[in-house]
Amino acid sequence: MNSILNQWRTAVEHTLDETLAKVPNPHLRAAMAYSVDAGGKRLRPLLLLSVVAMYDGVVAEALPAAASLEFVHTYSLIHDDLPAMDNDDLRRGKPTNHKQFGEALAILAGDALLTDAFALLSQHYPDKRAALIQILAEAAGSSGMVEGQVLDMDGERVHYDLATLKHMHQAKTGALIQAAVAMGTVFVTIPEADQAALADFAAAFGLGFQIKDDINDVTQTTAELGKTADKDVAEHKNTFPELLGLKGAEQALATQIQQADAALKSLTVDAATLQSILAVLK
Ligand code: IPE
Ligand code: IPE
Ligand code: MG
Ligand code: MG
Ligand code: MG
Repeated sequence: MNSILNQWRTAVEHTLDETLAKVPNPHLRAAMAYSVDAGGKRLRPLLLLSVVAMYDGVVAEALPAAASLEFVHTYSLIHDDLPAMDNDDLRRGKPTNHKQFGEALAILAGDALLTDAFALLSQHYPDKRAALIQILAEAAGSSGMVEGQVLDMDGERVHYDLATLKHMHQAKTGALIQAAVAMGTVFVTIPEADQAALADFAAAFGLGFQIKDDINDVTQTTAELGKTADKDVAEHKNTFPELLGLKGAEQALATQIQQADAALKSLTVDAATLQSILAVLK
């Protein structure tokens, strides 16, 4: 199973590199490639490709769409690490983009990755681009990831209740994960019975993913994470462990895993690749 995921990961990385090779300005290209090529689990591309493969779609056709998700995700990490935001020094095991290239180029590399993601979709999918672009734009924008990042920033001054915290996590992290699954569905025909279950899986996994990230931030070190752990920074953050305690956060995570797992078990097709991806939360 993991060999399929590894094969897809390699194919996604090839598409990412091919796309980056076309960036005309060498300085900008270097800054974009620095963060994209720093590694990362490529989970969002793998979610999309899993959905395509599960319903007998053509994985190769979906690679640019998978790459567009990784571009948006990587942009979000570069901007998330900026001094004006989380002010972090380490990402994907390397100095953050602004540490390496300076703030101005880091901002611009993020801008370029975000914008080029939509160029990729419009160039490759004349008959699907409207649907793909709409899903990605709505997930990344003012009612998705960016809204979540604003709630995160505003939360440095206030303590959120559980409903607000869930909403923040759903927006800042869940939305792009849900978009990955939804973009996959554009490439294939999904039986009626599976449509809601796939959306339920994505919602449960997406929220669970940020709860797990919160837990990792307190249970692991910066060196283990390859990115600056929250406990190493001064700002107050609204997180599941902060609100519910570590045990409570672990229970909340278990609930999300259970829901995601139940959704996968209800599908009419073999969901082994999605099961493997869900296992990152265990
Ligand atoms: C980290 O995402 C940021 C969050 C949304 C929690 P990932 O854990 O997917 O980071 P990479 O891509 O593997 O570096
Ligand atoms: C990031 O949340 C979510 C994004 C949209 C980038 P965090 O700030 O917790 O992510 P990490 O821990 O820096 O990866
Ligand atoms: Mg952040
Ligand atoms: Mg951060
Ligand atoms: Mg975090």
